[in-house]
Amino acid sequence: ARCVALISGGGTNLQALIDAQRDGLPFTIRAVISNEPQAHGLVRAREAGIATRVLSHRGFPSRKEYDQALARLIDEFRPAIVLLAGFMRILTPGFVAHYRGRLLNIHPSLLPELRGLHTHRRALESGAGVHGASVHFVTDELDGGPVIVQARVPILPDDQPETLAARVLEKEHVIYPLAVRWLAESRLSLGDDGLPRLDGQI
Ligand code: GRF
Repeated sequence: ARCVALISGGGTNLQALIDAQRDGLPFTIRAVISNEPQAHGLVRAREAGIATRVLSHRGFPSRKEYDQALARLIDEFRPAIVLLAGFMRILTPGFVAHYRGRLLNIHPSLLPELRGLHTHRRALESGAGVHGASVHFVTDELDGGPVIVQARVPILPDDQPETLAARVLEKEHVIYPLAVRWLAESRLSLGDDGLPRLDGQI
């Protein structure tokens, strides 16, 4: 399956997807698009021989116009699947609708807990014993789309946001390629009822 990945930063999830593709998982990242020119993920993409594009959001008069330009750029690569991999922008309903059922995101919390930013700090502050990451279909609700797969990690007594983040990231790198694989194999879909469907054994 043809994929386009959207990033804003370091791109360790992108790297995990690139590695999974190299290991023979049934998807190909055709392009990596960043809204940030300095995103290190662009370097990772280039090193893997993947096309890169930068579309800065700065200078666009509205979110809607940026998202329309972004969708045009994405669609040049005719992807079956669009992957948010640390893409730090809220997307408009029109954009989300255009990619319904083929737009995935990875979020560093056990959704529906801790939507939004600074999840590791907030997990520590909450006093919870567990934290984790979720892959979900993107819908209009920020970090609110149906969850496909989650991974849990313990919160340890000496944890700082950084140590906890590192433990969660390791798991992100396992579950994101897995979910993309299911979608690429057409085993996973988003039903008309808004619920995810997964056929066969995990
Ligand atoms: C990850 O924690 C991801 O869950 C969140 O943003 C971070 C991106 O990290 N959406 P990276 O750029 O993939 O290293």
